[in-house]
Amino acid sequence: MSAQAQHNQQFIDSFGRRIEDMRVSVIDKCNFRCTYCMPAEGLAWLRNREILTFDEIERVVRIAAERGVTQIRLTGGEPTVRKGLPDLISRLIRVPGVEEVTLTTNGFLLRRMARELADAGLTRINVSLDTLTREKFAHITRRDHLDEVLAGLEELEKHSTIRPIKVNAVAIRGFTEPEVLDFARFARRKPYVVRFIEFMPLDADESWSREQLLTGREIYEMINAVYPLVPRDTDPSSTSRVYRFADGRGEVGFINPVSEPFCSTCNRIRLTADGQLRTCLFSTWETDLRAPLRSGASDEELGRIMHGAVLRKEMKHHINDPGFVRASRSMSQIGG
Ligand code: 5AD
Ligand code: SF4
Repeated sequence: MSAQAQHNQQFIDSFGRRIEDMRVSVIDKCNFRCTYCMPAEGLAWLRNREILTFDEIERVVRIAAERGVTQIRLTGGEPTVRKGLPDLISRLIRVPGVEEVTLTTNGFLLRRMARELADAGLTRINVSLDTLTREKFAHITRRDHLDEVLAGLEELEKHSTIRPIKVNAVAIRGFTEPEVLDFARFARRKPYVVRFIEFMPLDADESWSREQLLTGREIYEMINAVYPLVPRDTDPSSTSRVYRFADGRGEVGFINPVSEPFCSTCNRIRLTADGQLRTCLFSTWETDLRAPLRSGASDEELGRIMHGAVLRKEMKHHINDPGFVRASRSMSQIGG
């Protein structure tokens, strides 16, 4: 193959963004029911045969990795609920070109699974934790499991190949403010990087409103006033602004997709559990890979279909524009 053909194969979108990160949702089900994500009764779950098999996921990842994707992030629903997840991790980490496999989890099953995940080759993890208070945790997740999540985090500390341990808190006005400094102290006391994520209009209940937006800037100010922060250099395609505490201990980060969109450096695509390729969290369209996967398409054909989607990757989200249209699915169906 000529150098030109090889170059053409790389996933580069029509704005010149190089696609290097694929988030793979392995299941739509979840063992929590976060109020901002799912209704209490859950959603209409996919049937087993609608969900991609590990062979199918591995194949899509291999085709993407041949075209420049180096980072694979496994999401859900709740990915640890998918049977055999460690096997999938060990398969994906061996795909040529894949440099890292990360997991985004609610942490509930971590105490039990941390060792298996580490043994499978997981090198990074994001644990979602929106509050450190038992009652608030039970309220927001509709499950009284704060202690299990904290124990899961402590279990991770024993597995030094999984680093950094990131803790992601969705910031919601009227909910998060009283705990901002507690989270800062948590980040100072524990070897976890705490990151605040601005609440986005992705919830199944459609309850998002701009009044609930608590910006990263506001949280930064609250922390910096008590525990001075110093910026750290971060990769330009990184979604988070990271600071360390000036007195040396710990780090906090801010993911500000609403107040400071990072779309211009977005290097991500997403694969849903049912095999749809999405080029933006807020896409109103998706590209079916499952039908071609199951009807004998070649790797080249699949690569072409995926590249076609990449070329249509949206320039930016329109959360802040009049007439914003919600995505066709909620977060748990897309995979954060
Ligand atoms: N806005 C911001 N973050 C969200 N998450 C789920 N729904 C939203 C939302 N509407 C987060 C979860 C988890 C990750 C997958 O995405 O808390 O950290
Ligand atoms: Fe489950 Fe994550 Fe949605 Fe909470 S945010 S209900 S943990 S998928």
